[in-house]
Amino acid sequence: MISRWATWVVVGVLLGSCGSREEAVTWSGGVAGIIHRHCSTCHRPGQPAPFSLLTFDDAWRKRRQIARVTASGYMPPWLPSHGDFIGARGLSQAEVDRVSAWVEGGAPRGDSDAEPSPPTFPSGWQLGEPDLVVTAEEWLELPAAGPDLFQNLVLPVETGALRFVDAVEIRPGNPSVHHAVLQVDGTRGARALDAAVPGPGFGGMEMGLSVPPDGHFLGWTPGKATRRNGQGRSWRLWPGSDLVLQLHLTPTGKPERVRPSIGLYFTDVPPEETPFALVMRSERIDIAAGQTDFKAADHVVLPVATELRAVYPHAHYLCTQMEAWATPPEGERLTLFEIDRWDFDWQDDYHFSVPVRLPAGTRVDFEYTYDNSAANPNNPSSPPRPVAYGLESTDEMATLSMTLVADEREERPLLGWAMANRAVERSPGDPGAWVNLAVAVRACPAPQGGEFALTPHQTAAQHASRALELSPGRGDALRELGISLVELGDGARAEALFRRALKEDGEQIARLHLGQVLARSGRTPEAIVEFERAVLIFPNHARLRNNLATALFIEDRLEDAVGHYRVAVRLDPGYFNAWFNMGRALGSLGRTEEARAALERASALRPGAPEVDVALGELDGS
Ligand code: HEC
Repeated sequence: MISRWATWVVVGVLLGSCGSREEAVTWSGGVAGIIHRHCSTCHRPGQPAPFSLLTFDDAWRKRRQIARVTASGYMPPWLPSHGDFIGARGLSQAEVDRVSAWVEGGAPRGDSDAEPSPPTFPSGWQLGEPDLVVTAEEWLELPAAGPDLFQNLVLPVETGALRFVDAVEIRPGNPSVHHAVLQVDGTRGARALDAAVPGPGFGGMEMGLSVPPDGHFLGWTPGKATRRNGQGRSWRLWPGSDLVLQLHLTPTGKPERVRPSIGLYFTDVPPEETPFALVMRSERIDIAAGQTDFKAADHVVLPVATELRAVYPHAHYLCTQMEAWATPPEGERLTLFEIDRWDFDWQDDYHFSVPVRLPAGTRVDFEYTYDNSAANPNNPSSPPRPVAYGLESTDEMATLSMTLVADEREERPLLGWAMANRAVERSPGDPGAWVNLAVAVRACPAPQGGEFALTPHQTAAQHASRALELSPGRGDALRELGISLVELGDGARAEALFRRALKEDGEQIARLHLGQVLARSGRTPEAIVEFERAVLIFPNHARLRNNLATALFIEDRLEDAVGHYRVAVRLDPGYFNAWFNMGRALGSLGRTEEARAALERASALRPGAPEVDVALGELDGS
């Protein structure tokens, strides 16, 4: 060890004092260390890099290419040219110079006794055996040649109960996978997309209704290290969820069989915060053939103080440069990141080493540049053809997703409102955007303005009505208008709207709300019918289970009620109402010990809640 270190120092001194005198730089005397540190993580067997860089022979064979790609900055791959991110890759200028001096000097081996041995890498999971491993059911067959492919695999994950995920490792298990994105779908929508086409998964860059769980981006690129989120930063995996894994596949020259695994690491500690994934986008993309400087941009004003944890920029092949910046209401413009040479193949999400504080009222902007000329080496069309917005990789996109954490937990919904509001500004003719705005407003904590301002429900009703003007009979808009009308006291009209949403658009979530309207107006047997139908469609919906159980409780069907309460608390162990109601139902059944246990769980969730004390007292009295 000492002798190796000494050689390193000598090389440094030689370089420093005499410039690049030939024979000064050798493989054993420094270059091996650089290659092992910066290249071998990916350039080794089983990884997607096309050849290994472990031994002197490996490097000697590729020496000219190595000098070229390190001098140009193409390797090691790292896109951000500005921004301080975790896991940043790159060689220092001194290291680049040393590699190039080595190649210019004939790439000598040096003292083979002093040669560092190639690094070893853990062959198993990076963080040890995961708590749960989910593996794709079927093999995905990839032909030897052809265009890049995007395939979304749907992986059901049965946890039986709510789990808190501290880390995820994605193991694509095949070098044809260049990039992967993992999202979570609780709607069964991705399963339906999968079932509609033959073979494993479904194609394209759209991932159905799946979302980054609790605002966490879960991406994989070659060489990416698996990290634990750490105390209080887990995300919630609800039982009955599906993982949706999008694979960007590049044919390798021989047929490949791909069957990824995902390792999940759980923690008992629930998240202390729920980040929000705020997505900015431009769909105004129309790039003439030959155009070199097309710009796509979007912005959003953040209504509350937040911390920016991570960014995930996305565009396709024609994009060349990216920039994003924040402008606080009072203060200097702050660059969030820059990418001088965008490369679609190396897209990734970036986590700031130090989260960026953004005060309330900060405007965030992005601007991406696209080159649709023949001079752009990444242009997939030769000769260039006009390119517009679209989801195919040969179309173009411009999105910037940000993981934000609101300083005040109650203010988080305002981030959803800001995102939905911006979407309506961009596309006022899009009924879906108005529905989303209605949903977002309804979740907001307080009236948006002064004395004469409307309540969130009044505002949401207006937005849903706007959607219905644009698209009469649209199920989700009928549903949203109905939900607001219930809150505004017009249950009769709401009931009619929910029935229309179901009948005209098959809008099944409306059934939950229909059941609730019926229950509230005392038509419990009718409510039970609707809830029972809804449970068949949404078996993992804790609130629905609680509502069904409560309706059964009212009808004195106590055993049935307890069964559904049990499911509700299994699905969501933090569900106070379900524990409390179950305790009371068990008490009525005379199952005192079970009742006490349930009420004590409720009490632990809301210490000192008077209704729980009363119910416990009644148990003791009986
Ligand atoms: C994060 C993974 C990763 C790291 C780290 C990495 N490479 Fe690569 N490298 C790849 C992949 C994957 C390819 C295949 C081409 C591509 O997909 O961009 C590649 C391709 C190459 C090529 C062929 C380039 C061409 O023009 O065809 C060379 C040479 C190379 N790497 C050298 C290096 C050197 C030298 C280092 C370290 C300084 C390094 N790589 C670090 C993943 C990596």
